[in-house]
Amino acid sequence: MEANSEQPPKRNSDCSSDITGEQRRAFYENRSAPSVEMLKDRPGFEYLLSSEQVGPWVDQLADKTLMLDIGAGMGRFLMAEAEKNRDVAYLGIDPDYQCVKKNLEKLDNRDRRDIGLPDVRFFFGSVYNALPFLPAARIKRAYVNYPDPWFKRRHKKRRLVTEKLFSSLHPLLVENGEVFVQTDIDDYAAFIHEELDKTKGFNINRTGMPFFNGLAGTLYQEKAVAKDHNRHCFVLIKS
Ligand SMILES: C[S@@+](CC[C@H](N)C(=O)[O-])C[C@H]1O[C@@H](n2cnc3c(N)ncnc32)[C@H](O)[C@@H]1O
Repeated sequence: MEANSEQPPKRNSDCSSDITGEQRRAFYENRSAPSVEMLKDRPGFEYLLSSEQVGPWVDQLADKTLMLDIGAGMGRFLMAEAEKNRDVAYLGIDPDYQCVKKNLEKLDNRDRRDIGLPDVRFFFGSVYNALPFLPAARIKRAYVNYPDPWFKRRHKKRRLVTEKLFSSLHPLLVENGEVFVQTDIDDYAAFIHEELDKTKGFNINRTGMPFFNGLAGTLYQEKAVAKDHNRHCFVLIKS
C-alpha cells in the first residue's frame, strides 16, 4: 500500500480492539508517515505536524518542557495532562487516522470554547516516523500507555515497547529524561521485562506505579480497571 496516497484501514472509533489485519500492518510498517494531506480539510488541522514541521515547532518552544505521548489514542490522557500543565508542550503520536482526526476535532472544539491548548500538537504516523525529526536532548518525558497487546505469538514482533524503542528515545531525552510505560497485559509485562534486560543507558524502575500517582487516567486504563486487570508500570530514567 502507498502510505502517502491512501487512508489507513479504520478501526473502532474508540481505537479499541486488536482488529489490525494485514492491510493495517502494511500501513503501519510503511517507512514514511502517512501524508497529513488526508486531514487537511478537517477541523483542527493546524494542530497537526507534518514531518518537516516537527523540528521548527520544537525550536519555537524555546526552553519549554516537551513531553511525548506515544500511541496517544483518543487523547484523553494527553488533553488532561496538557490542561493541568499549561507550561508544558505535548506531542501526541499515533498512526491511527480515526484517533488523530478525533484529537484534532477536540483541539478545535477547545479553541471555540476559549480553552485552547496552544502547545499541543499531533503527529500522524508511527513513532518511528516521528523520532528522526526530533532534536537531540530535548524531551523531558515520553509516555507509552497501554500499547497494543498483539496477543498472537506470531504477532509479538509487532510490539512497540522494545529495547529498540528505548534506545531510539535515549538520545532525544534531556539529562534525567524519563520514559513511562504501563500495560495491563501480564504477558506484555513479561515481554517488557525481557526487553529491559537488554536496555542500556537508563536507571530502570520496574515497579513504577508510584511515579504514575497524580497523572491523568487513560481510556485503556479505565478498561483495565473495569476488567480488574493487573497494572504493570515501568519508569526509565536516562543515566
Ligand atoms: C491500546 S491503544 C492505547 C491508547 C491510549 N494510550 C490509552 O492508554 O488509552 C494503543 C495505541 O497505540 C497506537 N500505536 C500502535 N502502533 C504505534 C506506533 N508504531 N507508534 C505510535 N503509536 C502506535 C495505536 O494506534 C493505538 O491508538
